[in-house]
Amino acid sequence: MTTYQSEYQRSVSDVEGFWQEKALDLDWYKEPKSILSTDENGMQRWFADGELNTCYLALDYHVENGRAEQDALIYDSPVTGNKKTYRYRELRDAVALVAGGLKALGVGKGDTVIIYMPMIPEAVFAMLACARLGAIHSVVFGGFAANELAVRIDDAKPVAILSASCGVEPSKTIAYKPLLDDAIGMAQHKPAHSIVFQRPESLAVLNQARDIDWSEMVSSAAPAECEPVAATDPLYILYTSGTTGTPKGILRDNGGHAAAMKYSMNAIYDIQPGEVFWAASDVGWVVGHSYIVYAPLIHGCTTVLYEGKPIGTPDAGAFWRVVSEYNVKALFAAPTAFRAIKKQDADAALAKDYDLSCLETIFVAGERLDPPTYHWLNDKFQRPIIDHWWQTETGWAIAANMVGIERLPTKPGSSCVPTPGFNVEIIDDEGNALPVGEQGNIAVKLPLPPSCLPGIWNDFPRFKQYYLDPLPGYYLSGDGGYLDEEGYLFIMGRIDDVINIAGHRLSTGRMEEVVASHNAVAECAVVGVNDELKGQLPIGFVILKDGVDIEASVLEKELVALVRQEIGAIACFSRAFVVTRLPKTRSGKILRKVIRHIAHGEAYIVPSTIDDASSLDEFKDIFSEESC
Ligand code: COA
Ligand code: AMP
Repeated sequence: MTTYQSEYQRSVSDVEGFWQEKALDLDWYKEPKSILSTDENGMQRWFADGELNTCYLALDYHVENGRAEQDALIYDSPVTGNKKTYRYRELRDAVALVAGGLKALGVGKGDTVIIYMPMIPEAVFAMLACARLGAIHSVVFGGFAANELAVRIDDAKPVAILSASCGVEPSKTIAYKPLLDDAIGMAQHKPAHSIVFQRPESLAVLNQARDIDWSEMVSSAAPAECEPVAATDPLYILYTSGTTGTPKGILRDNGGHAAAMKYSMNAIYDIQPGEVFWAASDVGWVVGHSYIVYAPLIHGCTTVLYEGKPIGTPDAGAFWRVVSEYNVKALFAAPTAFRAIKKQDADAALAKDYDLSCLETIFVAGERLDPPTYHWLNDKFQRPIIDHWWQTETGWAIAANMVGIERLPTKPGSSCVPTPGFNVEIIDDEGNALPVGEQGNIAVKLPLPPSCLPGIWNDFPRFKQYYLDPLPGYYLSGDGGYLDEEGYLFIMGRIDDVINIAGHRLSTGRMEEVVASHNAVAECAVVGVNDELKGQLPIGFVILKDGVDIEASVLEKELVALVRQEIGAIACFSRAFVVTRLPKTRSGKILRKVIRHIAHGEAYIVPSTIDDASSLDEFKDIFSEESC
């Protein structure tokens, strides 16, 4: 019998044999003989001589192997009142036409394409159409403002951008076309084509030479076939926040990704082909890439694309309605979503309106699962509640309770044990391994397993500098935490300036750049503080330029508006305080950690390197007033 221990041990003692076996679960055009090799950057790569096509594995393979009439994609949109189900054959045909349209525009293997779309089936078609052609997609979350899109356009240099006329939020419709035009206007790089899907909720004016109506493109297209690509060719670039304001284009290759996706569906999520899996995320985030689109489809499952919220569309019973209506076996969402449901429906009374007998397991990730939310879910739903830890960089879980192999006892506050292939260690800043129970940097011994990033798009040195150089021989995760005596991993939070707002990864460094660009601001710090609903929220502290006379409340409003305009409403930046000094070390480093401790009312040690300890007084006053 396979146990977690036997599976994990084999993955680290027979690394190549383990992954060769998993890779053979895929239908390759050319099976790889080289399992693990080293590329020109010195980075280990998976299945280098293999050839495949990810869209083929996700669609055509199933059409050809008995699943043509099985449901592949269920679109459920309480914000528009639309529902639609696509079977595998229908989805394959729709994708082939979008691919054909793109091909006719000259998009081909190795070209980059940006997808800036809401949660509609066409976003999934677009991703798979790129994969079909061997083009590299880069999905930009629809909640990002024009400026963020412009930065990504300049980095990815797309041949084309696929978009829609609008996004629909519960309380408003957001016109995308003006954002798209602004972004292209701001960017140095100008994509040749922008293809816009018209939604009836708000039509776009197509008035640029590059504009193409999506329906017209598709109606004149011939279906495109799948292009074989090398396993190491990129499938996508997904930008994520780092310490600096410039987002990092995380690269994902085709072969390793497909192998890890397929393996994880059974091993982690205990899902078999034909079953229904629902990741309540957005295609703009890695969870959406991996577990709305690629993994469930590669595994021959039915996946749910939900354009709605956990509450308010129409109520806190929305998730349970979807689970019961579509026979969902496993639900995956961010803890924030459950905190929002719990706040409105503490007794989970609305869940009683639905037959949830289909639902076997609830998975959470994206941020820490706080023990109260774990206990609430456990009490109310009486099913395994599985916390698992992962990152955009890995594309799948680094630690999890692998219910498909062996369900281990749960420890609230822990995301359980390392998954196969991830050799996790806790290391101090000097590179020493720390003993059980001691908190430090969470690092993964190289090689990283399949699906993990082989680099940053167009910037391998940045990848090396941030992730590899600090601890030679290891990948530095950017999270801190500890392992207990039974090998359970506890994630205690980021060690850099990344914060997690409602499961969305954002950079305080980027917010500082925006706040500092206000003409009244001489200097600033943005710090993430705990929030009961969204996990963390950013708070700004600004020092005014000499001679500037502005009411603090007016400045706060202007800064809030500026961050919304430059980054987007999802940054949830709503508080900014004027201070006379920022606490700093003598070398000028802002003591953000101390500010956080003060904000949380926690004990803290004033570092001996502090320049002037009295600079903390203002912060104590701010937070004592805030808590009154
Ligand atoms: N496009 C445009 N704007 C968007 C957006 C999108 N795709 N998603 C969110 N926004 C906007 C919202 O409209 C809101 O704007 P507002 O300040 O003008 O009202 C702002 O960004 C914040 O949105 P949100 O985080 O959704 O906050 P909320 O208070 O409306 O809802 C929750 C609270 C908890 C219901 C919501 O945050 C949620 O569903 N969280 C779970 C998210 C998740 O699944 N994360 C996991 C990703 S793996
Ligand atoms: P993202 O790249 O957007 O998926 O965000 C990754 C970051 O989210 C991680 O580095 C963690 O800081 C945090 N995270 C994700 N999952 C968990 C989890 N289960 N527990 C604690 N933090 C998590």
